Amino acid sequence: MLTQSTPAEPVSAVAEAADAAPVAESAIAQPHRPRRLRRNGTLRRLVRETVLTVDDFIYPLFVMEGENQRQEVPSMPGCHRYTLDLLLAEVEAAHALGIGAIALFPLIPEAQKDNAGTESYNPDGLVPRAIRAVKQAVPTMLVFTDVALDPYSSEGHDGIVKDGEILNDETVAVLVKQAVMQAEAGADFVAPSDMMDGRVGSIRRALDAAGWINVGILAYSAKYASAYYGPFRDALDSAPKFGDKKTYQMDAANTREALKEVDLDIAEGADMVMVKPALAYMDVIYRIKQHTNLPVAAYNVSGEYAMIKAAAQQGWIDGQAVMLETLTSMKRAGADLILTYFAKEAALALRQK
Ligand code: PBG
Repeated sequence: MLTQSTPAEPVSAVAEAADAAPVAESAIAQPHRPRRLRRNGTLRRLVRETVLTVDDFIYPLFVMEGENQRQEVPSMPGCHRYTLDLLLAEVEAAHALGIGAIALFPLIPEAQKDNAGTESYNPDGLVPRAIRAVKQAVPTMLVFTDVALDPYSSEGHDGIVKDGEILNDETVAVLVKQAVMQAEAGADFVAPSDMMDGRVGSIRRALDAAGWINVGILAYSAKYASAYYGPFRDALDSAPKFGDKKTYQMDAANTREALKEVDLDIAEGADMVMVKPALAYMDVIYRIKQHTNLPVAAYNVSGEYAMIKAAAQQGWIDGQAVMLETLTSMKRAGADLILTYFAKEAALALRQK
């Protein structure tokens, strides 16, 4: 009863009293007994260093064309793609749980994809319609939008492809149009996830020139070329048609390079920086937190979500406990905010604590 570690820690008066009873014979002289601070839930809460709250979450949501439909992503149990009408219901449900921010990701019909990602800056596209609808339904909900070409790219890459290469500067020119269009539609933060060089500065200058001085940039600064993105690419049908993303996303083996990317993004005008994925990159989160005074975001990505869900479905782990432990660990490592598909579930679990 005293070692209970489930999220809910009911404190029984009897237990607390029993705890305080003196131990008759304390054989060994031992001044340091760290266990004193762990004796019961009240005490553990008193000395707890990291407290996860719903305020930490950004809830990523998948949106698709159509009406009155939601499709579960097979590799992400409990996560759905929503048509716009049902997306609003989901946003309202998230809001009711106290979630203050969402990140939008679109499933684009194949027919609208091309190499230049033209649909990405269509002012009547799915994302701007979703931003406007969300802002109308729940005006206080903060909306983060992804800036990258992959959902719109016939090649499934984050940039324009030429002779098997991903063009940098030509892509940045398109990303700038995409970001300005998203700001016009009402996005609070644009979040470039493409990893092209110089895109944060170009986007900042373009936003300012268009008068969007208060639209912020959450830079995916240390975004690694990761196999943990698999389920997300299922959700958006956005897997690369050839090769991989290793010429623009970072090598999993590097951390000093992450600091370089962060420094560049800060110099270019980022308001917040991100580490992605999170779980296998806790050291990077920690190092970046020591390195900058900007808020640090961690993206608890699709593959991390899928692993917990899969093991929980098998009955091999306690899904809720592992979820809360994982999210708390990300915050402990230094994340000020966490993008997580668990946002609603975690908000609910924290409420029941
Ligand atoms: C697109 C993008 C990706 C994710 C977020 N934005 C996929 C990728 O870079 O291939 C992954 C998110 C997740 O796995 O949850 N640029």
